[in-house]
Formats: sequence, C-alpha cells, structure tokens
Amino acid sequence: MSTATEHPTYNYKVVRQFAIMTVIWGIVGMTVGVLIASQLVWPQLNFDIPWLTFGRLRPLHTNAVIFAFGGSALFATSYYVVQRTCQVRLFSDALASFTFWGWQAVILAAAITLPMGFTSSKEYAELEWPIDILITIVWVCYAIVFLGTVKNRKTSHIYVGNWFYMAFIITVAVLHIVNSAAIPVSAFKSYSVYAGAVDAMVQWWYGHNAVGFFLTAGFLGMMYYFVPKQSERPIYSYRLSIVHFWALIATYMWAGGHHLHYTALPDWAQSVAMVMSLILLAPSWGGMINGMMTLSGAWHKLRTDPILRFLVVSLSFYGMSTFEGPMMAIKTVNALSHYTDWTVGHVHAGALGWVAMISIGATYHMIPRLWGKASMASVALINTHFWLATIGTVLYICAMWVNGILQGLMWRAVNEDGTLTYSFVEALEASHMGYFVRALGGVFWVTGMLLMAYNVWQTVRKDSSAPVADASAQAA
Ligand code: HEM
Ligand code: HEM
Repeated sequence: MSTATEHPTYNYKVVRQFAIMTVIWGIVGMTVGVLIASQLVWPQLNFDIPWLTFGRLRPLHTNAVIFAFGGSALFATSYYVVQRTCQVRLFSDALASFTFWGWQAVILAAAITLPMGFTSSKEYAELEWPIDILITIVWVCYAIVFLGTVKNRKTSHIYVGNWFYMAFIITVAVLHIVNSAAIPVSAFKSYSVYAGAVDAMVQWWYGHNAVGFFLTAGFLGMMYYFVPKQSERPIYSYRLSIVHFWALIATYMWAGGHHLHYTALPDWAQSVAMVMSLILLAPSWGGMINGMMTLSGAWHKLRTDPILRFLVVSLSFYGMSTFEGPMMAIKTVNALSHYTDWTVGHVHAGALGWVAMISIGATYHMIPRLWGKASMASVALINTHFWLATIGTVLYICAMWVNGILQGLMWRAVNEDGTLTYSFVEALEASHMGYFVRALGGVFWVTGMLLMAYNVWQTVRKDSSAPVADASAQAA
C-alpha cells in the first residue's frame, strides 16, 4: 500500500482510520444482518450454538450497523467536515486518536459480550454498565474535539452542517447518560434506576431520539456538506437550513411515545407523541427538499456520477421513511403495523436507504481526497455498488410491507363466533417468502459492500502519479 502524505493543515489520519472502519464494520454488521435474516428462513442456521441464536445476534447486528458502521461514518465525516469548513486543524490530535481507539474498544466489547448473552435488555442500549462508562468517556472527548475545533475556527460563521453535528453530539451524550443510569449488581449485570412505565418512557425517549439524532441529525450534517460538494452547487436555501435545524431538533424530542401506543403510558402522552410525529413530517421534508433542490441545474450529473446518485437516492429514501413514520404514528395505523414486519421495513428504509446510502456516498467522496488520489480506482464498480444497494433496499422494504400488512390483517381476523380465523403459526408460514426475499436483498447489499472494499483498497494503493482512469465521478 502506498503511504498517504500527511495534509499540511488538517488531521486526516483519524479521518482515514474511521473511513476504513466504516467499510469494514459495514461488511461485518450487514453480514450478521444476512445471517439473522436467513435464520428466519432456515431456523437450523443457529446450529444449536447459544452464541449464534437469533436473540443474541440481533442486538449484535443493530449495534454493529448503527454504532460501529454508522458511528464510524459519523466520526469520519464530522472530523473531515469540521476541519474543512472551519479551516483549522482538529482541536487535539491526541484526543481525536483516543476517540478512534476508544470507539473501536467499545465495538470490540460489544462484539464479545452480546453473543455471550450479557445485556441490559434496553433496545439500542443493550451494553452493560462498564461499557456504558467507556462510551461516556469517549463521547465527552469527541465533544471536546469537535466543539474545540469549532471554537478555534478561522471562518466568521459556523457552517450549517456543523450545527447538525453539534446537535447530534450533545444530544446523544444526554440521551446515553440519562437512559443508561443503572445500579450495578455485578461486573456484567445492572438494573435500570427507573421502574415500570417510567422506564419504558425513558427508554423510548432515548430510542426515538437515537433515531432522530444518531441516525438523522448527524447524517443531515453529512448531507449539508457532501451534496453541495459533489454536485458543485451551493445549498439551495441557507435560510431554509436554519429553519430546518431548529424545527427538527425542537420536534423530535416529543415523539418517542409513538413506540408505546396502547401500553401503560398515559393516553394523553401517546396522543402528544402522535401529533408531534405528524408535525415532524414538515421539518423532515423541508430538509429533504433543501438537499434535493441543491441539484437544480446539476441533475444531468446524475447520469455520469454514481457518487451523486448515492447521495440523491439516500435523500429520496429519507423522504419516504419520514412520510411513512408519521403515518405509522397515527394510533389506528399503529394498531395494525405494531409488532409486524412493517416496522422492520420502515426501519430499513431509513437505515439502508438513507443512513447507509448517504454514508457510502460520503465515503466514496472522501477516500481519494484523503489519500491524495485523483479519483476512486473504478467508477464502474461504484455504479455496480449503487445498483446492488438500491435493488437490495427495494427488495428488503417491499418484502416487509407485504409481510407486515399480511401479519397485521391475519392476526386481527375473527370469525363470526369471535374466535381467531388464523393461528399465529399460519401467519408465520405466510411470511416465509417475504423472509427469503429480505435475505436476498441483504445478499445484494453485502455484495455491494465487498465491491466497495475492493475499490477502496485499489484506490489507496494506486500510484498517485498514474493517469486517472475516469474522473467524471470526482466532480468536486
Ligand atoms: C444487509 C443488510 C441488512 C440486513 C439483511 C438486515 C437484517 C435485519 C434483520 C433480519 C433484523 C431483525 C428483524 C426482526 O427482528 O424481525 C434487523 C433488525 C434491525 N436492523 Fe438490520 N439489516 C441490514 C442492515 C441494517 C443497517 C445498515 C442498519 C442501520 C444503519 C440496520 C438497522 C437495524 C435495526 C435498527 C433493527 C431493529 C429493528 C426493529 O427493532 O424494528 N440494519 N435487520
Ligand atoms: C418523521 C420521522 C419519523 C417518524 C415520525 C417515525 C415514526 C416511527 C414509528 C411510528 C415507528 C413504529 C413504532 C412501533 O410501532 O413500535 C417507528 C419505528 C422505528 N423507526 Fe421511525 N420514524 C421516523 C423516521 C425514521 C428514520 C429516518 C429512521 C432511520 C433512520 C427510523 C428508524 C426507526 C426505528 C429503528 C424504529 C424501530 C424501533 C423499534 O421498535 O426497535 N425512523 N418510527
């Protein structure tokens, strides 16, 4: 591998480290996704080994894709964007390096403890208390590096992308500390300090805002930098971006109760969450439109630039999932969708279509620049990756829509005498084909990620003096 030259002003080392880990954790997390998806088609794939059972691998999948893959993409892009838009080096190289190694240690600890069955049983916050403490330390260092860099900036104003990254960093710290508050009873077991319905409400205040700030605000920061850069157009409306920012962060906080419809949560709290979820459609679409309209006058670039295609298609999936979410938050709709695969489909419209696609687009944009190359080694491979990812996502979410509505309708069907028309197993049997199609979508995704790894490898080791094969995709 050719060694990359150090940038004279910016700390690119830590960005490179996180960028590479984005690809690696993407492959690992999605491969586990394919395994658990396949277990739902062929249950014998757990091989009767406790560590490989669905119940233990499912949280491994969610932690690996959200925190290892998504988290690495957020660290990489935020460190890249903040330096370039503030025109200053990261606040501290040592602390930045600590966030890299500390975050990898968290991931490793998760990869060991989750298959062993250690869990706090809180979704997306399963890791036990010693790991939670490490997460807190790493996150505080991340906040110091990022906010310190913004403070040292050489530009007069703070670019809007950094506002989104800052909201993401600060809010995730608050969410993590409040929701993880627990009383340890041994090195690997603790109990939440909250009880009953309060515990559930704190958990879904956390869970929904993990979606809103980890899986959305940080990635919107990405959108505000990489879409204008790759399309070589200024952001459509700076004013809209400010309105978008404040409206989004003010609304997300109130919507978590939609995860607890028809539970012991007070009815008024469920209704507030429903209304706030419906309002959330407006800022979400405001942001999506701001990103899309940035392409005004540059739409033709989509024909030749698969990186831009990744970024734009991610925005359409963002628009789709933020339309679907508010609909599912309506109590009568939720009565059908809750507990079914419809929820899982909605999750992956956001997770694969939005989060993964924008991260991949941003990573393809950064890699040649980080290693001082003119372009990615193969634009054709990026194009193939784009189609594998798009088709894989469509297969996944369509299969889950069909399964979800089928399950919801079969579970609620009653005969004239009031007995259930279908047993649970009949609904499960009817879902079999959908599970197969979903696993196939996952195979498309993993194949695309492997092509990406190969392309990144070829780019990094490419001789910088070699003629550029095709620079059309490296617009900015
Ligand atoms: C190859 C791609 C992927 C496949 C095949 C896959 C598969 C799965 C499967 C089978 C489940 C369990 C569903 C169930 O319990 O019934 C799941 C859950 C989940 N996955 Fe994925 N996944 C993939 C990629 C991703 C990515 C990239 C993300 C996030 C960035 C993600 C986030 C989640 C989340 C949050 C859940 C929990 C959903 C819920 O509780 O409703 N997945 N995934
Ligand atoms: C306006 C925006 C959104 C709203 C109002 C919304 C609303 C909802 C609703 C009503 C549910 C189902 C709750 C249930 O029945 O249990 C849900 C589940 C979920 N959504 Fe969204 N959603 C939005 C956007 C997104 C996006 C963009 C993502 C991903 C990037 C996402 C990720 C999730 C996850 C992970 C779950 C599953 C949680 C679980 O049960 O484990 N959502 N959302």
